[in-house]
Amino acid sequence: MNVPFLNLGLLHSEMRSELSDAFERVLDNQHFVLGSEVGAFEREFAQWTTTNYAVGTSNGLDALAMSLKALGVGHGDEVVMPANTYIATALAASQIGAKPVLVDVDEKTALMDSNLLGEAVRQETKVIIPVHLYGQACQMTEITRVARENGSYVLEDNAQAQGATWEGKHTGSMGDVAATSFYPGKNLGALGDAGAVTTNDAMIDTKVREFGNYGSKRKYEHDVKGANMRLDELQAAFLRVKLPKLHGWNDQRRASASRYDELLGGLGDIQIPTIALGATHVYHLYVIQTSRRDDLAAWLHKKGVVTLVHYPRCIHEHKAYSELEGLKGAFPVAERLAQTSLSLPMHPHLTESEQAYVAECIAAFFSGQA
Ligand SMILES: Cc1ncc(COP(=O)(O)O)c(C=O)c1O
Repeated sequence: MNVPFLNLGLLHSEMRSELSDAFERVLDNQHFVLGSEVGAFEREFAQWTTTNYAVGTSNGLDALAMSLKALGVGHGDEVVMPANTYIATALAASQIGAKPVLVDVDEKTALMDSNLLGEAVRQETKVIIPVHLYGQACQMTEITRVARENGSYVLEDNAQAQGATWEGKHTGSMGDVAATSFYPGKNLGALGDAGAVTTNDAMIDTKVREFGNYGSKRKYEHDVKGANMRLDELQAAFLRVKLPKLHGWNDQRRASASRYDELLGGLGDIQIPTIALGATHVYHLYVIQTSRRDDLAAWLHKKGVVTLVHYPRCIHEHKAYSELEGLKGAFPVAERLAQTSLSLPMHPHLTESEQAYVAECIAAFFSGQA
């Protein structure tokens, strides 16, 4: 049996005609940039996220950078983030001349350890970025408290967690601002690159819009040196087809995660994902921990099961961040998780028989058949 990591073909086959209609709507409308589809998607996504505003963006990295810009971050400022995030979180800070400052993560959830935040923040800390990694909401109450005490802003990196909650509140609605990604494999994926910024603050909404549209509020008037980071009209039309289905897909991911939990708990030294009290998880990724990660991944590959590692390196372990290499050893939990984490196939259409097969292969590995 072959078990793919994702199955976008199946996902899209279910809505092929709706997607084709969306394409034709834009083709007929002939308004390809910042047209009615972008406006409608922004309103619908804001409502979905329970925020006052949403701004469509070119991708998640740009959404993060635009948010930092809107918060006034620039040269010399520090941006605190977990050590084990996707590189985009750090790149967004670097891109605008700020410095990423890393924090270790909680062993069980792999999320930023809010108990360590106090040591990381200083006067230079303009922003704290909690990353709702793998689809689980961070401990926003404590993170927000530390940020407020220090006079820092909170920017949620919500690329992986659309639909998760912390104490009943939606991710993407709790920080001063939030950035998300609609990369095709995300829980809400476009048919290409796309992203969004969400906020309850009218001023931040205006600044993000202005920066992402060449620094312009009115055509040919440019008040700031901006960029072109706009959401494409076609992608907005596709995203509008998918958004109403997102809660259902997240439910299907949760059901698959519970099934994995039951099938895998107790096999070898596997640790199944832990959900913190107060948080919910939308399982963008289903990540297990095992000390035999690389051997297990190789075995599953041989058996036709596709797995990935999120992420094999912490931020300070990348060549791109060689200026941080002296920090090796400073984030022991994140560094260990980079060696032990394994992401199993996870998507809304994962079948019970595929999951049973994955579990069977893992059981065979730990019973010494590998
Ligand atoms: C945590 C995180 N932040 C930011 C991004 C960047 O999003 P994009 O790929 O749309 O630039 C991603 C996704 O790739 C991500 O997983």
